[in-house]
Amino acid sequence: MARIVGGIATSHVPAAAGAIAREQTDDPYWKPFFDAYPPARAWLAEVQPDLAIVLYNDHGLNFFLDTLPTFAVGAAPAYHNADEGWGIPVIPPFKGDPNVSWHLIERLIDEEFDLATCQEMVVDHGFTVPMQLLWPDHSHAGVSCVPVCVNALRHPLPSPRRCFKLGRALGRAVASYPDDRKVVVIGTGGLSHQLDGARAGFINPEFDRLCLDKIVDDPDDLLDLSIHDLVRLAGAQGVEFILWLAMRGALSGRVTRRHVAYHVPASNTAAGLLVLDHDP
Ligand code: DHB
Ligand code: FE
Repeated sequence: MARIVGGIATSHVPAAAGAIAREQTDDPYWKPFFDAYPPARAWLAEVQPDLAIVLYNDHGLNFFLDTLPTFAVGAAPAYHNADEGWGIPVIPPFKGDPNVSWHLIERLIDEEFDLATCQEMVVDHGFTVPMQLLWPDHSHAGVSCVPVCVNALRHPLPSPRRCFKLGRALGRAVASYPDDRKVVVIGTGGLSHQLDGARAGFINPEFDRLCLDKIVDDPDDLLDLSIHDLVRLAGAQGVEFILWLAMRGALSGRVTRRHVAYHVPASNTAAGLLVLDHDP
Protein backbone atom coordinates (compact mmCIF):
# COMPACT_ATOMS: atom_id res chain seq x y z
CA MET A 1 0.00 0.00 0.00
CA ALA A 2 1.14 3.54 -0.64
CA ARG A 3 1.23 5.96 2.26
CA ILE A 4 2.13 9.60 2.76
CA VAL A 5 5.06 9.88 5.17
CA GLY A 6 5.06 13.65 5.30
CA GLY A 7 4.86 16.98 3.58
CA ILE A 8 7.26 19.78 2.75
CA ALA A 9 6.44 23.33 1.71
CA THR A 10 9.14 25.57 0.32
CA SER A 11 9.64 28.73 -1.70
CA HIS A 12 10.98 28.23 -5.24
CA VAL A 13 13.01 31.42 -5.87
CA PRO A 14 14.71 30.91 -9.28
CA ALA A 15 17.80 32.92 -8.26
CA ALA A 16 18.62 30.09 -5.81
CA ALA A 17 19.33 27.82 -8.81
CA GLY A 18 21.71 30.48 -10.11
CA ALA A 19 23.46 30.59 -6.72
CA ILE A 20 23.81 26.77 -6.79
CA ALA A 21 25.21 26.83 -10.35
CA ARG A 22 27.74 29.55 -9.45
CA GLU A 23 28.67 27.87 -6.14
CA GLN A 24 27.58 30.94 -4.15
CA THR A 25 25.51 29.13 -1.54
CA ASP A 26 28.03 30.08 1.22
CA ASP A 27 28.13 33.75 0.21
CA PRO A 28 26.85 36.08 2.95
CA TYR A 29 23.73 36.92 0.93
CA TRP A 30 22.70 33.32 0.28
CA LYS A 31 24.02 31.42 3.32
CA PRO A 32 21.07 32.19 5.65
CA PHE A 33 18.67 30.99 2.94
CA PHE A 34 20.51 27.74 2.15
CA ASP A 35 21.16 27.02 5.86
CA ALA A 36 17.45 26.26 6.23
CA TYR A 37 17.66 23.10 4.10
CA PRO A 38 20.04 20.57 5.80
CA PRO A 39 17.41 19.67 8.46
CA ALA A 40 14.88 18.99 5.68
CA ARG A 41 17.42 16.75 3.94
CA ALA A 42 18.12 14.93 7.22
CA TRP A 43 14.38 14.31 7.60
CA LEU A 44 14.20 12.95 4.04
CA ALA A 45 17.15 10.66 4.79
CA GLU A 46 15.20 9.41 7.82
CA VAL A 47 11.83 8.78 6.12
CA GLN A 48 13.32 7.56 2.80
CA PRO A 49 10.46 8.41 0.42
CA ASP A 50 10.46 6.73 -2.97
CA LEU A 51 7.89 9.01 -4.57
CA ALA A 52 7.46 12.81 -4.51
CA ILE A 53 4.16 14.40 -5.49
CA VAL A 54 5.20 17.96 -6.31
CA LEU A 55 2.40 20.55 -6.20
CA TYR A 56 3.73 23.63 -7.98
CA ASN A 57 2.74 26.38 -10.36
CA ASP A 58 4.16 26.73 -13.85
CA HIS A 59 5.19 30.31 -14.71
CA GLY A 60 4.91 30.15 -18.51
CA LEU A 61 7.28 27.33 -19.51
CA ASN A 62 4.93 24.39 -20.13
CA PHE A 63 1.70 26.40 -20.22
CA PHE A 64 1.26 29.97 -21.35
CA LEU A 65 -1.53 32.54 -21.16
CA ASP A 66 -3.19 31.12 -24.30
CA THR A 67 -3.88 27.68 -22.76
CA LEU A 68 -3.80 27.51 -19.00
CA PRO A 69 -5.41 24.56 -17.19
CA THR A 70 -6.46 25.12 -13.59
CA PHE A 71 -5.08 21.70 -12.61
CA ALA A 72 -2.70 19.54 -14.65
CA VAL A 73 -1.01 16.26 -13.71
CA GLY A 74 2.09 14.81 -15.34
CA ALA A 75 2.08 11.21 -16.53
CA ALA A 76 5.45 11.12 -18.26
CA PRO A 77 8.36 8.72 -17.78
CA ALA A 78 10.69 11.71 -17.29
CA TYR A 79 10.45 15.46 -16.76
CA HIS A 80 12.97 17.83 -18.28
CA ASN A 81 13.46 21.50 -17.55
CA ALA A 82 14.48 24.16 -20.09
CA ASP A 83 15.97 27.62 -20.26
CA GLU A 84 13.32 29.93 -18.78
CA GLY A 85 15.26 33.14 -19.19
CA TRP A 86 16.23 33.44 -15.49
CA GLY A 87 19.79 32.43 -16.34
CA ILE A 88 19.34 29.11 -14.52
CA PRO A 89 20.88 26.01 -16.07
CA VAL A 90 19.27 23.06 -17.76
CA ILE A 91 19.75 20.08 -15.42
CA PRO A 92 19.36 16.30 -15.79
CA PRO A 93 15.73 15.10 -15.99
CA PHE A 94 13.58 13.88 -13.11
CA LYS A 95 12.20 10.34 -13.17
CA GLY A 96 8.43 9.88 -13.51
CA ASP A 97 6.19 6.99 -12.46
CA PRO A 98 3.40 6.84 -15.07
CA ASN A 99 1.58 4.00 -13.25
CA VAL A 100 1.18 6.11 -10.12
CA SER A 101 0.36 9.19 -12.20
CA TRP A 102 -2.50 7.43 -14.00
CA HIS A 103 -3.85 6.02 -10.75
CA LEU A 104 -3.90 9.51 -9.21
CA ILE A 105 -5.45 10.98 -12.37
CA GLU A 106 -8.21 8.36 -12.43
CA ARG A 107 -9.03 8.84 -8.76
CA LEU A 108 -8.99 12.66 -9.00
CA ILE A 109 -11.25 12.69 -12.05
CA ASP A 110 -13.59 10.26 -10.22
CA GLU A 111 -13.68 12.89 -7.46
CA GLU A 112 -14.74 15.58 -9.96
CA PHE A 113 -11.41 17.32 -10.45
CA ASP A 114 -11.39 17.86 -14.21
CA LEU A 115 -7.67 17.75 -14.92
CA ALA A 116 -5.43 18.26 -17.87
CA THR A 117 -3.32 15.10 -18.23
CA CYS A 118 0.19 15.55 -19.59
CA GLN A 119 2.12 12.67 -21.12
CA GLU A 120 4.81 15.21 -21.95
CA MET A 121 5.57 18.06 -19.59
CA VAL A 122 8.55 20.35 -19.07
CA VAL A 123 8.96 21.54 -15.49
CA ASP A 124 10.03 25.05 -14.53
CA HIS A 125 11.73 26.55 -11.47
CA GLY A 126 8.55 26.00 -9.44
CA PHE A 127 9.41 22.28 -9.61
CA THR A 128 13.18 22.16 -10.15
CA VAL A 129 14.38 24.61 -7.49
CA PRO A 130 12.71 22.78 -4.56
CA MET A 131 14.01 19.45 -5.92
CA GLN A 132 17.54 20.91 -6.08
CA LEU A 133 17.25 22.32 -2.57
CA LEU A 134 15.96 19.05 -1.10
CA TRP A 135 18.11 16.64 -3.14
CA PRO A 136 21.32 18.51 -4.03
CA ASP A 137 23.61 17.28 -6.80
CA HIS A 138 20.80 15.28 -8.42
CA SER A 139 20.69 12.90 -5.45
CA HIS A 140 16.98 12.29 -6.14
CA ALA A 141 17.84 9.22 -8.28
CA GLY A 142 15.82 6.85 -6.06
CA VAL A 143 12.78 9.13 -5.96
CA SER A 144 10.18 9.20 -8.75
CA CYS A 145 8.03 12.27 -9.24
CA VAL A 146 4.46 13.17 -10.06
CA PRO A 147 4.16 16.87 -10.95
CA VAL A 148 0.78 18.39 -10.09
CA CYS A 149 0.51 21.85 -11.57
CA VAL A 150 -2.00 24.41 -10.25
CA ASN A 151 -2.68 27.71 -12.02
CA ALA A 152 -1.35 30.58 -9.88
CA LEU A 153 -0.59 32.75 -12.90
CA ARG A 154 -3.67 34.00 -14.70
CA HIS A 155 -6.93 34.84 -12.94
CA PRO A 156 -9.36 33.31 -12.16
CA LEU A 157 -7.28 31.11 -9.84
CA PRO A 158 -8.64 28.20 -7.78
CA SER A 159 -9.52 29.25 -4.22
CA PRO A 160 -7.55 28.23 -1.11
CA ARG A 161 -10.40 25.88 -0.14
CA ARG A 162 -10.48 24.28 -3.60
CA CYS A 163 -6.73 23.67 -3.47
CA PHE A 164 -6.97 22.16 0.02
CA LYS A 165 -9.71 19.84 -1.30
CA LEU A 166 -7.47 18.86 -4.22
CA GLY A 167 -4.89 17.84 -1.61
CA ARG A 168 -7.50 15.84 0.34
CA ALA A 169 -8.48 13.98 -2.86
CA LEU A 170 -4.80 13.35 -3.64
CA GLY A 171 -4.35 11.91 -0.15
CA ARG A 172 -7.25 9.48 -0.71
CA ALA A 173 -5.86 8.59 -4.14
CA VAL A 174 -2.45 7.77 -2.66
CA ALA A 175 -4.05 5.65 0.08
CA SER A 176 -5.85 3.56 -2.56
CA TYR A 177 -2.71 2.81 -4.62
CA PRO A 178 -2.21 -0.94 -4.27
CA ASP A 179 1.62 -1.14 -4.44
CA ASP A 180 4.09 -0.07 -1.76
CA ARG A 181 5.23 3.52 -2.00
CA LYS A 182 6.47 5.94 0.63
CA VAL A 183 5.23 9.29 -0.56
CA VAL A 184 6.34 12.81 0.32
CA VAL A 185 4.02 15.60 -0.80
CA ILE A 186 5.77 18.86 -1.66
CA GLY A 187 4.06 22.22 -2.13
CA THR A 188 6.15 25.02 -3.66
CA GLY A 189 5.99 28.81 -3.94
CA GLY A 190 5.28 31.67 -1.54
CA LEU A 191 5.56 33.09 0.96
CA SER A 192 4.68 36.77 0.48
CA HIS A 193 6.11 38.42 -2.61
CA GLN A 194 5.09 40.63 -5.48
CA LEU A 195 7.29 40.92 -8.56
CA ASP A 196 5.59 43.70 -10.49
CA GLY A 197 3.13 46.58 -10.39
CA ALA A 198 2.77 49.39 -7.88
CA ARG A 199 3.40 47.04 -4.91
CA ALA A 200 6.53 45.36 -6.40
CA GLY A 201 8.74 44.27 -3.48
CA PHE A 202 5.77 43.86 -1.12
CA ILE A 203 6.44 41.46 1.76
CA ASN A 204 4.22 40.82 4.80
CA PRO A 205 6.11 38.97 7.58
CA GLU A 206 3.18 39.19 9.99
CA PHE A 207 0.88 37.34 7.58
CA ASP A 208 3.63 34.86 6.64
CA ARG A 209 4.18 33.99 10.32
CA LEU A 210 0.44 33.50 10.78
CA CYS A 211 0.37 31.15 7.76
CA LEU A 212 3.42 29.17 8.94
CA ASP A 213 1.67 28.66 12.26
CA LYS A 214 -1.91 28.02 11.18
CA ILE A 215 -1.09 25.64 8.35
CA VAL A 216 0.33 23.10 10.82
CA ASP A 217 -2.49 22.70 13.38
CA ASP A 218 -5.38 24.79 12.13
CA PRO A 219 -5.37 24.93 8.31
CA ASP A 220 -9.19 25.23 8.25
CA ASP A 221 -8.76 28.74 9.60
CA LEU A 222 -7.06 29.76 6.33
CA LEU A 223 -9.64 28.30 3.97
CA ASP A 224 -12.13 31.16 4.05
CA LEU A 225 -9.53 33.47 2.52
CA SER A 226 -10.37 34.39 -1.05
CA ILE A 227 -7.75 34.64 -3.77
CA HIS A 228 -8.13 38.41 -3.58
CA ASP A 229 -7.54 38.33 0.19
CA LEU A 230 -4.32 36.43 -0.56
CA VAL A 231 -3.23 38.97 -3.20
CA ARG A 232 -3.86 41.78 -0.69
CA LEU A 233 -2.15 40.06 2.25
CA ALA A 234 0.68 38.15 0.52
CA GLY A 235 1.20 40.00 -2.77
CA ALA A 236 0.28 39.12 -6.34
CA GLN A 237 2.75 36.20 -6.41
CA GLY A 238 2.23 35.37 -2.73
CA VAL A 239 -0.96 33.66 -3.93
CA GLU A 240 1.37 30.70 -4.48
CA PHE A 241 0.47 29.86 -0.87
CA ILE A 242 -2.44 27.91 -2.44
CA LEU A 243 0.17 25.26 -3.29
CA TRP A 244 1.12 25.00 0.40
CA LEU A 245 -2.56 24.54 1.25
CA ALA A 246 -2.89 21.80 -1.39
CA MET A 247 0.10 20.00 0.19
CA ARG A 248 -1.43 20.34 3.66
CA GLY A 249 -4.76 19.02 2.38
CA ALA A 250 -3.06 15.75 1.42
CA LEU A 251 -2.11 15.13 5.08
CA SER A 252 -5.38 14.06 6.71
CA GLY A 253 -3.86 12.07 9.60
CA ARG A 254 -1.76 13.25 12.53
CA VAL A 255 0.62 16.04 11.54
CA THR A 256 3.74 17.07 13.50
CA ARG A 257 6.02 19.94 12.61
CA ARG A 258 9.63 18.77 12.25
CA HIS A 259 11.29 21.91 10.88
CA VAL A 260 10.42 25.49 10.03
CA ALA A 261 12.50 28.35 8.63
CA TYR A 262 11.73 31.87 7.45
CA HIS A 263 14.15 34.28 5.82
CA VAL A 264 13.63 37.74 4.24
CA PRO A 265 14.57 38.46 1.56
CA ALA A 266 15.69 35.81 -0.89
CA SER A 267 15.59 37.67 -4.18
CA ASN A 268 12.15 39.38 -3.98
CA THR A 269 10.62 36.74 -1.75
CA ALA A 270 9.95 36.01 1.90
CA ALA A 271 11.40 32.49 1.83
CA GLY A 272 9.67 29.83 3.92
CA LEU A 273 10.36 26.17 4.56
CA LEU A 274 8.17 23.77 6.51
CA VAL A 275 8.64 20.03 7.11
CA LEU A 276 5.71 18.00 8.44
CA ASP A 277 5.64 14.40 9.63
CA HIS A 278 2.44 12.54 8.78
CA ASP A 279 0.98 9.55 10.57
CA PRO A 280 -1.92 8.39 8.38
C1 DHB B 1 10.88 35.13 -7.59
C2 DHB B 1 9.99 34.36 -6.84
C3 DHB B 1 9.13 33.46 -7.48
O1 DHB B 1 8.21 32.68 -6.82
C4 DHB B 1 9.17 33.32 -8.85
O2 DHB B 1 8.36 32.41 -9.42
C5 DHB B 1 10.05 34.09 -9.60
C6 DHB B 1 10.90 34.98 -8.97
C7 DHB B 1 11.82 36.09 -6.94
O3 DHB B 1 11.72 36.33 -5.73
O4 DHB B 1 12.70 36.62 -7.64
FE1 FE C 1 6.85 31.65 -8.29
